[in-house]
Amino acid sequence: MMVFTANYKMEKRIFDTPQATARGFAEHFLKLHKENDKLSIALSGGSTPKILFDLLASEFKADFDWSKIHLYWGDERCVPPTDDDSNYKMTVDHLISEIDIPSSNVHRVLGENDPEGEAIRYGEKLANDLSEQVGLPVFDIVLLGIGGDGHTASIFPHEMGLMTDKRVCVIGTNPDSGQKRVTLTGPVINNAKVICFLATGNGKAEKIDEIFNKKDNYLAYPASHIHPTHGNLFWYLDQEAVSKSI
Ligand code: 6PG
Repeated sequence: MMVFTANYKMEKRIFDTPQATARGFAEHFLKLHKENDKLSIALSGGSTPKILFDLLASEFKADFDWSKIHLYWGDERCVPPTDDDSNYKMTVDHLISEIDIPSSNVHRVLGENDPEGEAIRYGEKLANDLSEQVGLPVFDIVLLGIGGDGHTASIFPHEMGLMTDKRVCVIGTNPDSGQKRVTLTGPVINNAKVICFLATGNGKAEKIDEIFNKKDNYLAYPASHIHPTHGNLFWYLDQEAVSKSI
């Protein structure tokens, strides 16, 4: 593992393979679990986390006291929980169905609800469930992915205002499909104690290069604006994801 610390708030942790990258995060997650009585984590969706969730559900399963872990989502597609597009369903399939976690610790976004109403409901739930700092809920951990267009959570480049929106949760729209998603806003993501990107594969390499080396119009990418206000940022990356940047 190579460690490059860009500044006191950001650290790049680079591994040879996607599996090793997932293991690196899992070990970090376990360390935080042992240091805290209760942990709230906002999970990312898409496909990258599947390797991590499968690892947590197998090799790391017995290491966790899942009764002390609370699962939330950083973003969720506005679809029913049975839909193959649902991040919740993906997490059930790869993690929740395999671990002994109380159902009361699983706080899904109700993707089947009216989007705007659910964004309000989930935001109010987060404000109620979590500690608060600067008037916003504080996650212990926010896990993020990065899209090929530089989006993160469900904040896309054409909706950059969501990176500074004062609300807790809002509706983002996938520019390709028009699919609506409930997403945390930038200030809530940046309010977390620990923010971890998990990015693997060649498909991420160009945007990661632009962001790390401040190239081209990198500021047009939401992922460029993830800067913890009082926490720490870690990038968990494999060699392919950094193949263009170091
Ligand atoms: C989502 C995610 C999204 C994802 C990126 C990367 O709901 O799709 O939260 O932000 O992390 O699009 O997706 P992949 O892991 O599939 O490349």
